Amino acid sequence: MSLSAPTIRSKKRSRGDQPIVMVTAYDEPGARYCDAAGVDIILVGDSMANVVMGQRDTLQVSMEDMIHHVRAVAAAIPKAHVVADMPWMSYHVDVASSVRNAAALVRAGAHSVKLEGGRVRRDAIRAILDAEIPVMGHLGLTPQSVLAFGGFKVQAKTSEAAEWLTKDALLLQDEGVYAIVIEGVPSVVGTRITEALEIPTIGIGAGPDTDGQVLVFHDLLGLTGRTPPKFVRQYAQLGDVITEAVGRYAFDVRNGLFPDASEAYENPAELLE
Ligand code: KIV
Repeated sequence: MSLSAPTIRSKKRSRGDQPIVMVTAYDEPGARYCDAAGVDIILVGDSMANVVMGQRDTLQVSMEDMIHHVRAVAAAIPKAHVVADMPWMSYHVDVASSVRNAAALVRAGAHSVKLEGGRVRRDAIRAILDAEIPVMGHLGLTPQSVLAFGGFKVQAKTSEAAEWLTKDALLLQDEGVYAIVIEGVPSVVGTRITEALEIPTIGIGAGPDTDGQVLVFHDLLGLTGRTPPKFVRQYAQLGDVITEAVGRYAFDVRNGLFPDASEAYENPAELLE
């Protein structure tokens, strides 16, 4: 049985729990490796737009894209909880289509859904929860708001904005979300929201005090080919490992070194006559 939303909801560092470990994955091998590493939550993030599809923002991801990748992640049958991002426009039109889209992600293998925004998303969140689908919130530098924000800008930099964000977090908690991702805010805001809530916060660029942390798979592993954002710690440079390995393969093919006899099927005697 995978880690459930109610179990995650009960985790709080202030109550002595260990920080929650969340990482994104978009396919079966990625999910399998993350699960083997013992992460708590796998997020099938719409960040796939940036790191898998080569797009500049997450507005390019469709429900079809999400279903395809959730299915691939679920095929790993992870012990980790699988949460799927609801893509832009899948919960903005009306409540009925929001519920149908959340259900489609669950049918593809997600254990819960994540959606961005505070009070303006209240009706969608309430309806999805009413359909018995656990919801994770996402506040702060919400990437689907990139056009409205005028870029990827750190949020809640004034007392007023921090207060507004804290109220949104409390509202989401009251509605019944089981955890909230807090992204791209000064660390003191991450701390204050975490202290204000009974449910866990999971930070990305929100400082060290949130109840958990989330990183994007390709950022963490050095697979983007770009200088990572400030809040990323890279634990490997797999991009370099891949380039070096594929380069050696190319060298071997071009120089007649691959395949050798041990890598070829045996020739039946009859064929050699
Ligand atoms: O899509 C994603 O990867 C996310 C994380 C940045 C939290 O939403």
